[in-house]
Amino acid sequence: MTRLEFLKNLGLSGASLFAVLATCTVQSCSSKGSDDPTPTPPPTGTTGVTGTTTGNNIDFTVDLANSANASLASTGGSLIFGDVIVVRNTATTFVALSKACTHQGTTVVFRPAQNNFLCNNHGSVFNLNGSVANGPAASPLKVFNTAVNGNNLRVTA
Ligand code: FES
Repeated sequence: MTRLEFLKNLGLSGASLFAVLATCTVQSCSSKGSDDPTPTPPPTGTTGVTGTTTGNNIDFTVDLANSANASLASTGGSLIFGDVIVVRNTATTFVALSKACTHQGTTVVFRPAQNNFLCNNHGSVFNLNGSVANGPAASPLKVFNTAVNGNNLRVTA
C-alpha cells in the first residue's frame, strides 16, 4: 500500500490530504526512519591528523596536542579516524583497531569500564587485542601498530 492509498483509507481527501502530504514532505517522511539499520557512528577526528586513515595502507599521525583530539588526552578516551578506532588504554600507550565489527560492519564503541569494544548492532564484544570476547562476530578486529613520539601518535598497518 502506498502512502497515498493509506491516507485515503483514513478518509482523508482534498485539502486535508494535501496538508498531510505537504507536512510529510517538509518534515521528511523519508524511507530512513528510526529503524534505520545504520546507527549514527561515534565522533570522527578530521583535524589534527595527517596521512591515510582508510583502506589497506593505513598510515597516519595524530597530533595529540591538537584540541580536536582531546578525547585521547586521558586514559579510556577514544576517537575514530577513517577506518580506525584509537583508544588511549594507559597514560602512555594507545591501541588502534579496525572500527568495523567483523559481523556486519557496524562501528564499534570503546567501553572504558569494561576495557573492551562493543558492537551495539548485535552485541559482539572485542578485547583490546581485537579478539572476539562475545559473538555473533567470529573474526577478530584488525589491530594496527601504534607509536608515540612526543605529541605525535603514529598508526600504521
Ligand atoms: S554487526 Fe556487530 S554484532 Fe552484528
